[in-house]
Amino acid sequence: MKIHQEAIDAIENFSMPDNVGFGKVMLPIMAQATYKDGQWSQVEVIPYQKLELDPTCKVLHYGQEIFEGMKAYNFKGNGPNLFRPEENLKRFNKSAVRMAMPEISEELFMGAVEEVTWLGRNFVPKRSGESLYLRPFMIASECNLGIKPSEEFIFLVLASPVGSYFSGASIKVLIERDMIRASSGGMGAAKTGGNYAGSLLAAIETKKLGFDQTLWLSAEDKESIEEMSGMNFFSVINGELHTPAISDTILDGITRRSLIDLAKSEGIKVSEYKLGITELLEKIKSGECSECFACGTAAILTPIASLHDKSGESYPLKQEHGPVAKMLRDNLLGIQELSIEDKFSWTKLLKK
Ligand code: COI
Repeated sequence: MKIHQEAIDAIENFSMPDNVGFGKVMLPIMAQATYKDGQWSQVEVIPYQKLELDPTCKVLHYGQEIFEGMKAYNFKGNGPNLFRPEENLKRFNKSAVRMAMPEISEELFMGAVEEVTWLGRNFVPKRSGESLYLRPFMIASECNLGIKPSEEFIFLVLASPVGSYFSGASIKVLIERDMIRASSGGMGAAKTGGNYAGSLLAAIETKKLGFDQTLWLSAEDKESIEEMSGMNFFSVINGELHTPAISDTILDGITRRSLIDLAKSEGIKVSEYKLGITELLEKIKSGECSECFACGTAAILTPIASLHDKSGESYPLKQEHGPVAKMLRDNLLGIQELSIEDKFSWTKLLKK
C-alpha cells in the first residue's frame, strides 16, 4: 500500500458541509489498484481525481463493471467502524466471476476500504442514520472494440459522507408490470451497472407518476415479487416477515440478510418464498399485510406508505410506520452505530 502525501494533504484541507445529502459530497481521496498481465498492482491512495480513459476502453462500450455499496459509522464518535465488510468482499467477487472479471484478494479489498475510511475518519458524520458511504468498484480498462473479456482492469474505492437516501420518511412504490429487471441465467444477482441502467426508464415513469421506487416482478410469471431497483422488498403478513427468496435474478442484500437474522432473534417467523403480487395486494386490502418496507445499504430500512398500479389503483398500507419495521430499523442502526450490543459480531471497529 502506498499512501501519497498529496492525499494526506487533501484530506487535511477538506471541510465537510453540514447537510451532505446522498452521494453528492466526495472525500478528496481515493484508493486505486490496476490489473495487468494477470496480476494486481499494490493499492495506492491518491487525491480524488478524474480518470483518464482511452475512448475505446471496454467498460465504456460493453459495460464490464461491478461495484459495492458499504458504510462506515462514527455515531457520537464511537467508530469508525464498518458493517460486515467481508460480506461485501464476497459479493464483489461473486459479481466479478459473473462479469468475467478477476477476483480480488481480501488484503487488497479490505486494505483499500479500511485505509480510505481511516484517512477519512474525521468526516464520518456522527448523527444517527448518517455514515460514510464507500463505493468500491472495478472497470474493464483494456482499450479496443473487440467483444472479448478485458485483460486489464482498474479497482477504485471512493468515499462519500451521506445522510438519508430518500428525502421523505416513507416511500410510494409503483408496480412495474411491463418491463422486467432480470431473467434466470442472466446477471440480475450481480452488482453491475447494467442492472441499474436497465431500471432507469422505469424510474422515469415512476417519478412522473409521483412515486419513489419501482417494484420489479419475475420475468418468468410477471407475478412473483422480486426486488426494487436498488433495494430488497419485505412485507409483514399476519405478524410474520415475508421476503422473496434469493435467486439468480435478485441481489443478495447484506441488509436483507441482517434483517432476517434480527427478526428471527426477536422471535419473528421469517418466510423466504415466491410471493405473488396479486396475493400481496389482496392481503394489503384485507389488512392481513400490515407493513411493507425496502432495505439496502443506502436505504437502510425505509417504510413503504403505499403500492400503486399504473391503472391508477392505490394500495395504502395499514401501518406506514409499523412496529416491525421500527423495531428492525432501530436494532439494525443500533448495532451499526455501536449503541446496542452486537451479538452477531457484525461490526468491525477500525484502530491503528
Ligand atoms: C446500495 O444500497 O449501496 C446500492 O448500491 C443501491 C443504490 C441505490 C445506491
